[in-house]
Amino acid sequence: MDFMTAKEASEQWGISQRRVAVLCSENRIDGAEMIGKMWLIPNTATKPDDARSLRFQPLECLPVKPFVKWAGGKAQILDEIRRLYPSGLGTTITKYAEPFVGGGAVLFDILSKYQLNEVYISDINQELITTYSHIRDDVSELVDILRTMAQDYLPASGDIRRTYYYGKRERFNVLKAEANTSVEVAALFIFLNRTCFNGLYRVNNKGGFNVPMGSYKNPTICDEGNLTAVSERLQNVDIVCGDYKESSGFIDEKTFAYFDPPYRPLSETARFTSYAQDGFDDKKQEELAWFIKDLSRKGAYVVASNSDPKNTDESDNFFDELYGSMYIARISASRAINSVGEKRGRVSELLISNYGEART
Ligand SMILES: C[S@@+](CC[C@H](N)C(=O)[O-])C[C@H]1O[C@@H](n2cnc3c(N)ncnc32)[C@H](O)[C@@H]1O
Repeated sequence: MDFMTAKEASEQWGISQRRVAVLCSENRIDGAEMIGKMWLIPNTATKPDDARSLRFQPLECLPVKPFVKWAGGKAQILDEIRRLYPSGLGTTITKYAEPFVGGGAVLFDILSKYQLNEVYISDINQELITTYSHIRDDVSELVDILRTMAQDYLPASGDIRRTYYYGKRERFNVLKAEANTSVEVAALFIFLNRTCFNGLYRVNNKGGFNVPMGSYKNPTICDEGNLTAVSERLQNVDIVCGDYKESSGFIDEKTFAYFDPPYRPLSETARFTSYAQDGFDDKKQEELAWFIKDLSRKGAYVVASNSDPKNTDESDNFFDELYGSMYIARISASRAINSVGEKRGRVSELLISNYGEART
């Protein structure tokens, strides 16, 4: 019998090599055998019917945008980040990784514009990742639930609206405490994000989501067009709930990786409080820098963003020293400058990359 390699099957079937390997390991391709470290596939094998299609769609399809508002979202500095996309993206650079994906402003920009073979995203937030997964795998069920929520919530006002919001919040917390990952959790996650105060995601010390109701009169709860377009775009994407370090096996010399960790707070006091909240303290920032340097040595194209300590202390060289061997650009962003988030002002932020020119 004649055999082909996973690479040849991937070209013949129009799916990624990684996907072919997954199908082989799931025993979904008759006669496929692992010889040494390679899969060999009979030439007569056919692509399984439900194998997720393709390298990304031709780019005439609708652009996609984040389906949630997310703290630290990168929409407003997207132009600056775009300028740092490596020039081979979509040709010689065929893979993309975003291990701190959050609302995915950069992810969706890239999925709207480039044809890539493999994409990996992750986040530590379980409910956010549950939502990404359901958008990819069963968007119509999700849309049905959101449509019902919109029909119930939007015409209501006063106490009826409040009771509905807090009822949904309570239901979300019951499911969250059970580590439930059903489509209902995904729908509640989007509903709460759209209707809560400022689209915040905040939990109490027992892990319960505790953001109060927002005051939007007519929020978009069910954006069916965008959710459907996002679903199409996520078809071939690996979606992982976990620590950013789990991405190391994916990222190689053909990968563009964007790292957008929780920002280092600008004051010592805020640093102390934030340590208790999300654990991303200075030691974690250092570990991330080492991780990024390892990926650099592997030949990956890496961009990372963070706050600029020099906004509050000109002598603070924390990131300049940590990323001394890389290019550091200082850009200007409009950010909330007080804790209530109403006042905005311009602050400097850092874009760090391991290629290209330093722009200060
Ligand atoms: C600044 S936000 C990312 C925002 C995103 N770029 C956007 O446009 O919306 C940082 C994200 O990192 C996630 N996170 C925090 N610690 C993490 C870890 N150790 N591994 C992976 N994700 C983590 C948070 O849940 C949050 O969603």
